[in-house]
Amino acid sequence: MAPPKIHKNFIHGEWVESVSGEAFENLNPANRQELVGLFPRSTAEDVNRAVESAREAQRSWRLFPAPKRGEILFRAARLLLERKETLAEQMTSEMGKVLDETRGDVQEAIDMTFYMAGEGRRQFGQTTPSELANKFAMTVRSPIGVCGLITPWNFPMAIPSWKIMPALICGNTVVIKPANDTPLSTYNLVSVLEEAGIPRGVVNLVTGYGRDVGVPITAHPDVRVVSFTGSTEVGREVSKACAPDFKHVCLEMGGKNAMIVLDDANLELAIEGAVWGAFGTTGQRCTATSRIAVHKDVYKQFTAILVERARALHVGNGLDRAVQMGPLINESQVQTVERYVEIGKNEGAKLLTGGQRLTGIAYDCGFFYAPTVFGDCDPKMRIAQEEIFGPVVSLIPVDSFDQALEVANGVVYGLSSAIYTRDVNKAFRAMRDLETGIVYVNAPTIGAETHLPFGGVKQTGNGHREAAVAALDFYSEWKSLYIDYSDRLQRAQIDNQ
Ligand code: UN1
Repeated sequence: MAPPKIHKNFIHGEWVESVSGEAFENLNPANRQELVGLFPRSTAEDVNRAVESAREAQRSWRLFPAPKRGEILFRAARLLLERKETLAEQMTSEMGKVLDETRGDVQEAIDMTFYMAGEGRRQFGQTTPSELANKFAMTVRSPIGVCGLITPWNFPMAIPSWKIMPALICGNTVVIKPANDTPLSTYNLVSVLEEAGIPRGVVNLVTGYGRDVGVPITAHPDVRVVSFTGSTEVGREVSKACAPDFKHVCLEMGGKNAMIVLDDANLELAIEGAVWGAFGTTGQRCTATSRIAVHKDVYKQFTAILVERARALHVGNGLDRAVQMGPLINESQVQTVERYVEIGKNEGAKLLTGGQRLTGIAYDCGFFYAPTVFGDCDPKMRIAQEEIFGPVVSLIPVDSFDQALEVANGVVYGLSSAIYTRDVNKAFRAMRDLETGIVYVNAPTIGAETHLPFGGVKQTGNGHREAAVAALDFYSEWKSLYIDYSDRLQRAQIDNQ
């Protein structure tokens, strides 16, 4: 076996060790005996250095023309495209999801990088008449400063790109802390940016634990913006940490995404969507389909086929082309799933398939869990209310379209939802009435594209959106400019009455 690759932090344009000199292991979740790499176990001191470097670099980066920033991003996007296959393979070995999906993750980073590169020439403001004569008014976007980015393990390259690229194109500099389970993909992304010619200090990477790196980022007075994707509990802490000095905070947190299947739906399509939405990424997406409200007239048929398909899924190492569902990310995630399965059984939900950890020669070294379906769930059960982040889906029989909407909206989260119907009136009502940031019609709850806003309502988010033009609104501030060419004092609200 090749010796473990030792990785470093990226601070002030250089690859450097952590001041602690310590490292943590990045293991393959399909085979925890396989070490993907060693990464620095950084400290607050490393964060201080990275923030200082980003602060310094921002002075010139903000003056670097936005279209030129875009050119660097275009180069980076092309490099990612050239290396897509290798990057995807490396991602599968640290994160576990199947190659088709890691290719998709890298592609999402490519899309975001191209998209934001283009925004370098599109940072439009407004011009508008002044209420006073011989006076001109307009708005421009201004960069904010140093952005602290804290990212999860389920989309190890896509989500870092959602945060890094808009931050950079707006003229900010960044310090990113990737999740400990999957630092390699962010490391690869940062390496590509370096190769594309990003100036020294504009992008900094610091790996390590939340308390050692994440907390100092959120507390640092020179970090003006924090973007976090992760659990609602940690998001609440991030929000509190950023409150005293009014940092801009974007929080993308939990979901309990519902799919509605009405009696007029194309059932085959709905089942296919349910399998992909519930078990894609082993259910470890914020957007995963984790509840399905099915009309009682088609419930039996839908359930029988879904269970059969879930059972037939080929679970294993994501690098194996025949595998359809990879492992969970780590032992603690397996335990969370096990705990919820027990809760579901105790609540009286009917365990229709799965419900156990997979064992045997192919599974013993990894974190494998069987695709799990609970039937006859009450919408108030904890398995139908709380985020599980695993391959577990709860089926809820409903009597009507109105009840389906009520069930879908009856949770504290509001990220994504889906409806399967051929009735255009119901589809439009659902689009209007579903309380989520994203609604799909005749498609599952996963599959957001980079040029539309991504984010949720209620306890999923705090009002911001990632991706699309919406991201520019988070990573820049509007500045209003008034230019008086009348050569006299003109008082707004007074001199034009
Ligand atoms: C996430 O679930 O954390 O829409 C991100 C999707 C992907 C992104 C998911 N494009 O499912």
